Amino acid sequence: MKKIQSVKGMHDILPDTASKLRVLENLLINTSESFGYDEIRTPILENTDLFTKSIGDGTDIVEKEMYTLSDSKDRLISMRPEGTASCVRAVVENGLQDNINRFWYTGPFFRHERPQKGRYRQFHQFGVELFGISSPEADFEVLNIIVSIFKNLKMKSPKILINSIGDIEDRNKYTTVLVEYLNKYKNDLDKNHLLKLERNPLRILDSKDEKVAEIISNAPSISQFISKDAKEHFEETLLLLDKDNIKYEISGNLVRGLDYYNKTVFEITDGENNTQNTICAGGRYDYLFETLGQKSTPAVGFAIGLERFLSYVMDNIENYKSILIYMICLDQKFKFHAISASDIIRNCESNIRVVNDFNYSNLKSQLKKANKLSADLSVIIGSEEVDSDSILIKSMDTGDQEKIGMSEIGNYFKKEY
Ligand code: HAM
Repeated sequence: MKKIQSVKGMHDILPDTASKLRVLENLLINTSESFGYDEIRTPILENTDLFTKSIGDGTDIVEKEMYTLSDSKDRLISMRPEGTASCVRAVVENGLQDNINRFWYTGPFFRHERPQKGRYRQFHQFGVELFGISSPEADFEVLNIIVSIFKNLKMKSPKILINSIGDIEDRNKYTTVLVEYLNKYKNDLDKNHLLKLERNPLRILDSKDEKVAEIISNAPSISQFISKDAKEHFEETLLLLDKDNIKYEISGNLVRGLDYYNKTVFEITDGENNTQNTICAGGRYDYLFETLGQKSTPAVGFAIGLERFLSYVMDNIENYKSILIYMICLDQKFKFHAISASDIIRNCESNIRVVNDFNYSNLKSQLKKANKLSADLSVIIGSEEVDSDSILIKSMDTGDQEKIGMSEIGNYFKKEY
């Protein structure tokens, strides 16, 4: 048979994982909503220049990873590689800019990266964005949401790697000094790093290359260049974390791969020593509205990579428990009885699932299918049940059977389950 395949780097999420993902998403949603965040849904497609202007021309995402197409009028549109720029666009377009806005979002994002474990071309993020508060309390709030998510998962808080990259001017001053320093080591840098040196030198700071990391370890630190205001902002953020017993580690080389950040940036890794180990990342981006030609609005947020996060927290996710009932109907002529019994049972309790067979094979083969689906109970409908307006309930575990009148079904399931 002809091979049929998904697009490279894009994967299916099958029921077992999907149900865990749903439990996880619900927990993320409930936690964010407990802080007053509301859902926002933005389109998958946006005008390409929204991303080029916000994420930045020299970044990997914009340079190499966007799925971009032109529409019938030759306008460039891209599949969203991240959610922050879209949220900013939505706030401006919908006239919400004068309010304090707290949003959460979840959904698919697209980056044309080289696929590997934990790195996909279609992946999912859960993110929050807080607009309109410039004080460190906002930075603290979004970090506190992350810590609360771990608490609600009954997990130990992860280590938060945090840094301040100062404001735009600080960063420009630092970049000049860093380039001067790195120019001395040009012969030790490969093609890729030389390109970064030219286009986006700060990205060299979080290089995973051992040789480069050694060069960087002696480089001037961004902390020496940040302004008094940015320094105080950072110290206050750390104080708030300290007071709340939230653990963090200052990581002087943390700069992030998107251009819109200023002041606080942070990442959370899964502690594994691999390249795709960041499960959550974010920071402040007070200049993004201005970059997009809009009124200045302070902002801070983060996004969790759901595939990576799910594999990290998998053991702490309890599966949604439901009772599975397999409805066995022994002849097509009893179908109305089977369908109405199924509906009555479904309406008894929200955690009951009823699966109808509809193939009308013999009892043995239908029971086999019930077992294959790991049903808790099967309900059997034959001529006797139809004549006596009843159903026969069979426990798949013990084999015990019980006959119940149709009018008794509601009471039976409310009492027993
Ligand atoms: P980001 O660091 O580009 O930040 O992505 C956030 C998270 O998405 C990463 O830490 C990772 O877990 C996940 N992720 C990114 N790319 C992939 C991929 N190809 N496959 C699987 N997972 C991936 C942002 O997107 C910012 N918008 C975060 C933010 C929100 N900053 C402020 N507000």
